[in-house]
Amino acid sequence: MLKELAKIAAKCSSVAVLTGAGISAESGVPTFRGKEGLWGKFRPEELATMAAFVANSKIVWEWYNWRRELMAKVTANPGHFALCEMESMFDRFALITQNVDGLHRQAGSRNVLELHGNINRNKCVDCEELFEDDIEIDPSNLPACTKCGGKIRPDVVWFGEMLPAKTIDEAFIQAEGCELFFSIGTSALVQPAASLPLVAKRHGATLAEINPEQTPLSDLADFCFQSKSGEILPELIQSIRECRG
Ligand code: OAD
Ligand code: ZN
Repeated sequence: MLKELAKIAAKCSSVAVLTGAGISAESGVPTFRGKEGLWGKFRPEELATMAAFVANSKIVWEWYNWRRELMAKVTANPGHFALCEMESMFDRFALITQNVDGLHRQAGSRNVLELHGNINRNKCVDCEELFEDDIEIDPSNLPACTKCGGKIRPDVVWFGEMLPAKTIDEAFIQAEGCELFFSIGTSALVQPAASLPLVAKRHGATLAEINPEQTPLSDLADFCFQSKSGEILPELIQSIRECRG
């Protein structure tokens, strides 16, 4: 099956990829859903919403500081590196991610569409002005926006918030225009990202999924690899290279 997909990929000039928490799982970043997932231990509405921040910014910041510390210790894995390599293998390549960990860039990918923001960036909760990001945030004494005095928050998308408009628009353009679309390490449940693979397929793209578990996408995908992304992606690249000779 891998060979068959590699043959198709070898002939493609435009590829789009959507990644989710699963691509970073082999780096040691916890996913959201599933047995060990963050949403099994924490309540999203108490930590990842504007209402939570307004009610208790200290708890919200303590949680984000904990995740920042965790992510500062991890490094990109073979799945991230394989996707970086893919960027140079196709005339048109888009890497769309729901992850906020920055590991795609760490692996060397240049053109990354971060749909849910980046956990290492800070912005003002009121005017959205970006704030310096190389600072430690004291949850009990939050810095104030230099423009309007508003509190500083992490630059991630919380539940109920809009995605950055330019980024999601570009993601849909890439999904509509690609010949091959990969959905990798995502439960394919959270909108609007979950629509991207469907849009790609509706526009005629071949759809491939990489996920050790079944998702709502699995039955619709043309190729479904129930494997870890860090294991199968390097093999796939090797196979595409062989097909191209
Ligand atoms: P989820 O935690 O919902 O799903 C992670 C997926 O990765 C699951 O389907 C796993 O089976 C799969 N997986 C686990 N290990 C893997 C591996 N080694 N290789 C490949 N796949 C693996 O994470 P997302 O789909 O990314 O949003 O969640 C989407 C959004 O929901 C997140 O961006 C976050 C969350 O609430 C916000 O915070 C806005
Ligand atoms: Zn401000």
